[in-house]
Amino acid sequence: MLQDKTAIVTGAGTGIGRAIARTLHAHGARVVLAGRRRDRLDATAALLGDRTRVVPTDVTVPDQVQALAAAAAEFGQGRIDILVNNAGVMRFAPFQQADEAHWQTLMDVNCWGPRRLMTAVLPAMRGGGGSIVNIASIAGEHAFPGAAAYGAAKRALRHVSQVLAMEEAAHGIRVNVICPGVVEDTDLLDGAVPAEKQAGFLTTFAGLHPLGRNGKPDDVADAVLFFASPLSRWITGAVLPLDGGRHLATNRPKLD
Ligand SMILES: NC(=O)c1ccc[n+]([C@@H]2O[C@H](COP(=O)([O-])OP(=O)(O)OC[C@H]3O[C@@H](n4cnc5c(N)ncnc54)[C@H](OP(=O)(O)O)[C@@H]3O)[C@@H](O)[C@H]2O)c1
Repeated sequence: MLQDKTAIVTGAGTGIGRAIARTLHAHGARVVLAGRRRDRLDATAALLGDRTRVVPTDVTVPDQVQALAAAAAEFGQGRIDILVNNAGVMRFAPFQQADEAHWQTLMDVNCWGPRRLMTAVLPAMRGGGGSIVNIASIAGEHAFPGAAAYGAAKRALRHVSQVLAMEEAAHGIRVNVICPGVVEDTDLLDGAVPAEKQAGFLTTFAGLHPLGRNGKPDDVADAVLFFASPLSRWITGAVLPLDGGRHLATNRPKLD
């Protein structure tokens, strides 16, 4: 489905990003792997084989984001077809303890980073049916104590995506958003939950998803494939809850 397409995946060295890169690659795309740690990106590239390019990038550094877009356009012989803004960080802090640095980091990586990269790739994406897929979060859709900054950044990313979907529709570019619930087998909790509490966190959350489990990176990757491919050719500005039904859940106790 993605033969001769060129894709950028950020956060491609770990977790969900690695699964997305593998899935897009398996469907024929050339994949540019971005993130800060080269060793993690190299490990993903080794899994995939040819049709990959590693471009170490910190999405908070504008010059590096520009260099990423330039490298991807060169790899795609002038075109970038798919951008997946997946890189992100999660930190929790009660509102009164969330300082400027906390807010700055969460907004910069989770919202300004994607915004920078979208701006940088648009010239190489227009006129050819490009697709941008932004990974937001259920935390941007609902109010979770301790997640004001993380949730605000993800909610802002969702909004920016929808405005861009309107602006770029005339250029044939689609922009869609995925909001995962809790996904395991990633490194995201490392920045937010002490190591000894992560297993308990995941067990608790598994029970809160109506489908009875946490998500896996491939659950997200398959939805990204849908948005990246012609299967979703008449969909733009969509916000997909990808959370085993958690967005439907209430706190109703089990009565029987
Ligand atoms: N896991 C979940 O439960 C869950 C739920 C909802 C949404 N999400 C979202 O899904 C996305 C992927 O998360 P994940 O669960 O796969 O966690 P993860 O394994 O920690 O992946 C995050 C990736 O982002 C990269 N990254 C972080 N800061 C960066 C920066 N400044 N510049 C470039 N890359 C950066 C990291 O690589 P480097 O450190 O090498 O840069 C890492 O590969 C995130 O946007 C996250 O918010 C996850």
